[in-house]
Amino acid sequence: MKALITGGAGFVGYHLAELLSQNQNLQIYIIDDLSRGKIDNNFSKLLKKNNVFFFKKDIKKPDVLKKLSEKNFNYIFHCAAVCGTRLFYEKPYYTLLNNLQTTINLIEFFKNFKGKLLFTSTSEVYSGNENLPLPTPEVVRTSIADVFNPRWSYAGSKIVGEQLFIHGAKKYGFRYSIVRFHNIYGERMGYEHVIPGIIKRIFEKQNPFEIFGRNETRSFCYIKDGMEALWKVATSNKTDSKIINIGRGEETKIGDIYKEIFKLADFRPKKVIYKDSPKGSTKRRYPDVKLLKKLTGYECKTDIKKGVKKTFDWYKKDLANLMITNTKTKI
Ligand SMILES: NC(=O)c1ccc[n+]([C@@H]2O[C@H](COP(=O)([O-])OP(=O)(O)OC[C@H]3O[C@@H](n4cnc5c(N)ncnc54)[C@H](O)[C@@H]3O)[C@@H](O)[C@H]2O)c1
Repeated sequence: MKALITGGAGFVGYHLAELLSQNQNLQIYIIDDLSRGKIDNNFSKLLKKNNVFFFKKDIKKPDVLKKLSEKNFNYIFHCAAVCGTRLFYEKPYYTLLNNLQTTINLIEFFKNFKGKLLFTSTSEVYSGNENLPLPTPEVVRTSIADVFNPRWSYAGSKIVGEQLFIHGAKKYGFRYSIVRFHNIYGERMGYEHVIPGIIKRIFEKQNPFEIFGRNETRSFCYIKDGMEALWKVATSNKTDSKIINIGRGEETKIGDIYKEIFKLADFRPKKVIYKDSPKGSTKRRYPDVKLLKKLTGYECKTDIKKGVKKTFDWYKKDLANLMITNTKTKI
């Protein structure tokens, strides 16, 4: 069996490839332009496995997917996208262009595909909806709050991405599922997300220490659970043509995440400044994950303390390596 992972050098794609590569009956093809993904130690180790193949290519360029469409993949996971809030603000047009063009190319070159296509969407598709039920099921109205605000370029691209899959499948007849990830966290996710961001600022000894949106809530889901869930969705027929939330059905206050990380780092900030999150940030996020359980039997269960500890330990090492590299560069 063969699986193709677009964006496989990024956070989600790498962990998915790592999980799937443990199955010797699967050949994993990774395609990534390395615009954000990196060939770091973890990724290099993955590439040494005999069932993992990597292509450094931009899938906005049609010829790349054309060649790959000749291979008989069983699964295609579309994880390539511009992600990360800073990029949405700085490059909204590029976010839209990249996320839509890659999705259109994938659908057009695999329109006669006999396996299953997976589209990785996000909770952001309904962040513009102010009247959300909590926990939030898949059927709520998707919307963006403001077409002029660059922040919504990403959510807009994902709403249209979902539509492209739904209507593309109706036109061409391929099998697909759409998953909406909710605050997946873990090792090797870059430094822009909340958990690694806190860890980095602790190591930089930020003073006064800024705490953002402490009363907001999220349902943090550990990456390994998220990838198990994604694989369950991919391998089930019951999930065909469905949109499915992937996340942990438990709400955690952002302030409690700060406390947990302070404890792990044995850090007591001398002075704290409490700040609101940037405008447009969601106050509460809490997915209804009953559909995932009903269709696949799977629940994302890793305890938040356990997941944060694993993440913290990885980042501690990564930051130590970065410091050594920076010192060497300065010399
Ligand atoms: N991390 C989360 O919590 C989360 C939440 C919701 C949705 N998602 C979705 O999951 C998917 C993966 O997210 P992630 O967190 O791994 O992001 P990421 O930025 O870590 O990974 C995306 C990868 O895609 C690659 N890429 C981008 N454009 C490309 C192109 N044109 N051609 C080839 N490669 C390209 C990048 O280099 C990067 O390695 C995305 O679709 C994202 O929208 C993630």
